[in-house]
Amino acid sequence: MKIYLDNCNLGELEKKYVLEAIDSGFISTRGPLVKKVEEVFSGYLGGYVAATYSGTAALSLSLRYSLKKYNLDPLKEKIGVIIPAITFAATSHAALYNNLIPIFCDIDKYTLNLDPNSAAKAIELAKSKGISVKFIMPVHLYGNPCDMDEILKLSKDYDLIIIEDAAESLGSKYKDILTGTFGEFGAFSFNANKVITASSGGIIFSKNEKDIEYIRFLSLQARIESEYYHTDLGYNYRMTNIEAAILLAQFEKLEYFLSLKKNFYKIYYEYFKNYFDILYLQKDTNNSIPNYWLITIIFKNKIDIANLKAKLNDINIPTRRIFYPLPLMEFYKKYQIVDNLEDFYKNSIYIYNYGINLPSSTKNTSESIEYTAKKIIELISKNKI
Ligand SMILES: Cc1ncc(COP(=O)(O)O)c(C=O)c1O
Repeated sequence: MKIYLDNCNLGELEKKYVLEAIDSGFISTRGPLVKKVEEVFSGYLGGYVAATYSGTAALSLSLRYSLKKYNLDPLKEKIGVIIPAITFAATSHAALYNNLIPIFCDIDKYTLNLDPNSAAKAIELAKSKGISVKFIMPVHLYGNPCDMDEILKLSKDYDLIIIEDAAESLGSKYKDILTGTFGEFGAFSFNANKVITASSGGIIFSKNEKDIEYIRFLSLQARIESEYYHTDLGYNYRMTNIEAAILLAQFEKLEYFLSLKKNFYKIYYEYFKNYFDILYLQKDTNNSIPNYWLITIIFKNKIDIANLKAKLNDINIPTRRIFYPLPLMEFYKKYQIVDNLEDFYKNSIYIYNYGINLPSSTKNTSESIEYTAKKIIELISKNKI
């Protein structure tokens, strides 16, 4: 039995659409399928969409355009962005591409999402260092929606622009509303390991048509169509027609993939519920429906997580470590705002040390997920770790 961590699930439909795209001669950024992707996702999300080359490009362009829209100049004043300490580094890299300063806050120990109290403290600390925080990038980690009521309140209290990092959370809902549609912009990723993929690829969502039109223009080198004349600093960030072909096939399977993942979560839950004295699953945010992109368990006792990972790997069960806390990375220490990292980021550090992502790919079967759960229980209950 082969077990898959986060592999993509491609089939005949993807091959058909890609071949059709190749036959049409449109393989790069100018192609009818890119427009179709924008139509499909505008309908699904209920607003306007610009298709990008990757999720990272989507995040970066959202920030870049927001700076322009709100007349902010990070080269004239120090502008900060609230980012949770546990996320893929693309979130904070996108801030740095735009000369913004990442201001890291801690996460909640159970939902694994940004902790608004820690964010408020971080904003005050940044202010004391002359950094004016103007943005917040909530990340719906592993597909679990952030408590958007809390984030919206925080953004009102501190006058923050919300750029949602919904890279991992396509299809997840908070209070029946899709994640990625709450903020000024929502950025999604279609990297190969996401719920659905375009090989790479991403989209930016907004409720404002004019904003999306301009972002699309920026993603195509800010070029006046008919001539090689540029009116702004442009980027080569547009989705390609080949990416779009794969994505359109995948989109047809989205609801099916989401139902598979929900079932995998239920299986893990059933197996692990008798062991809740020693471990817990990432807690669904109240009033939310996660997409269960990457199902995650956290140990309550201090086990050797690297050893567990190695032992599972020996029996061909692939797992993934939690993202390394960003503010603890040497590269990011120059943006440090606190004296005591271990104290300020204690939940992030705990989750990194004692959490692990489990096989969640839609290429798995119920049997392979059951097998995985049983093997984990066997290893931890026999005190082998
Ligand atoms: C939280 C998060 N943000 C951003 C990205 C970047 O997306 P991409 O790989 O499509 O550039 C990813 C995933 O790759 C992610 O998991």
